[in-house]
Amino acid sequence: IPVEPFDLVIFGGTGDLARRKILPGLFRRFRAGQMPEGSRIIGAARGNLETSAYRDLVRGGIQEFGGSESSDGDSLAAFLDSLQYVSIDATGEGGWQSLAGLVRPDVIKAFYFSVAPSLFGALAERLHMHGIADPESRIVVEKPFGRDLDSARALNHTLAEHFREEQIYRIDHYLGKETVQNLMAVRFGNILFEPLWNNHYVDHIQITVAETVGVEGRGEYYDKSGAMRDMVQNHLMQLLCLIAMEPPAQFEAGAVRDEKLKVIRALRPVPAHHIVRGQYDADGDQPSYREEAGNPRSFTESFIAIRAEIANWRWSGVPFYLRTGKKLRARHSEIAVVFKDLPHSIFEGDQARHRNILSIRLQPNEGIDLTVTIKEPGPGGMRLVDVPLDMTFATALGEDGKDVPDAYERLIMDVIRGNQTLFMRGDEVEAAWAWTDPLIAGWERRNDVPKLYDPGSAGPDDSLMLLHREGRRWREIKG
Ligand code: BG6
Repeated sequence: IPVEPFDLVIFGGTGDLARRKILPGLFRRFRAGQMPEGSRIIGAARGNLETSAYRDLVRGGIQEFGGSESSDGDSLAAFLDSLQYVSIDATGEGGWQSLAGLVRPDVIKAFYFSVAPSLFGALAERLHMHGIADPESRIVVEKPFGRDLDSARALNHTLAEHFREEQIYRIDHYLGKETVQNLMAVRFGNILFEPLWNNHYVDHIQITVAETVGVEGRGEYYDKSGAMRDMVQNHLMQLLCLIAMEPPAQFEAGAVRDEKLKVIRALRPVPAHHIVRGQYDADGDQPSYREEAGNPRSFTESFIAIRAEIANWRWSGVPFYLRTGKKLRARHSEIAVVFKDLPHSIFEGDQARHRNILSIRLQPNEGIDLTVTIKEPGPGGMRLVDVPLDMTFATALGEDGKDVPDAYERLIMDVIRGNQTLFMRGDEVEAAWAWTDPLIAGWERRNDVPKLYDPGSAGPDDSLMLLHREGRRWREIKG
């Protein structure tokens, strides 16, 4: 859908996220013809930079992180022309008049708060004080949105003093991923799955987000968060919501977010023995988590597995196993819906357990794979084997090698379009913290020490036990 020319102000415009994700993403939309002529991007940060120096900095970011398209010098130059820079004092007065002079009153305005949450209030207040924001303006905020329920409430409260909920776009970049949206297309665009999508037919669901990277330079932030706050409270819970929610009446922000909220509110508290926390160990010359985080006594988890339950009519009795971790065997994210055993096998002598599994691969190699049982070809009689009906989206659509917009690009354009469907509402974020807070408080009270695991493994053995003791097993983590 085409958009009108806009002004986008990025606070924290020289920061890491702006350089790596936001600006390269905007450049790709520019190249795709989605940034209408006359749109402006204004970087704002504390440093004293000329606009020309800012453009150089952004050029560097795009060349490093922008992929193959960044080699197109002509369009890069044209894109950089749309960029301005203002040096701004977020908590003082410096720079605000210049910003007010640059931002146009008659276009759609979006303000990206790519800064520490402690500055949200000051920015929101000054945008109003200087008459820069209007009732149609949008603000974009990043995670972490608080570190517990109280701080998330306080942030919501601060933002609400200056902006209506319809103006606030809380980013969870997982919602912008192509396959995450495909999850909704598969569920609600086919008659095939929805009748089976309940506790009569589903045995359990697994959500895995495995990464190979460690915490690297982010140790200071990460050690205060851990996998629960960094990944589960937002990304994994969003995936859980999309897989478990009731069909919304429309694919529209209010309807979708209402249904997601109901899922979060129906999550049961999790007992301690349904949580496994892990921390990666050293491996040869590779540092351990504690070394990387610079905290030799850290009890922070770089891996977590949880057996969750949703107490509602559809899902009662169906475990949802969630796990995520750093330095695991492969970069592999998938949601697997494991269906129940057949009630009875009509094939004599067939002792094997045949199960249909619908696996939705988020990354890499986005696609869907449905395990079905067929007759083994050949003369050996009626012998059954399980085979995958595998569909890799790029191949199926003949788009191998074609660039699909990355999560940030898609979400930023949604902000300009005014579509909040793929953003978290304030009450959703609070409900998610209300579920995670007691889990975190529980292990802090018990002084729980995370189990060590080898880098390149599937996490600590205890996480395997979480399923084994119920006669189930995790899907393989493979790249
Ligand atoms: C971020 C987390 O939100 O998501 C990181 O803070 C994590 O720790 C990242 O590595 C994973 O995102 P993706 O898109 O690479 O799966």
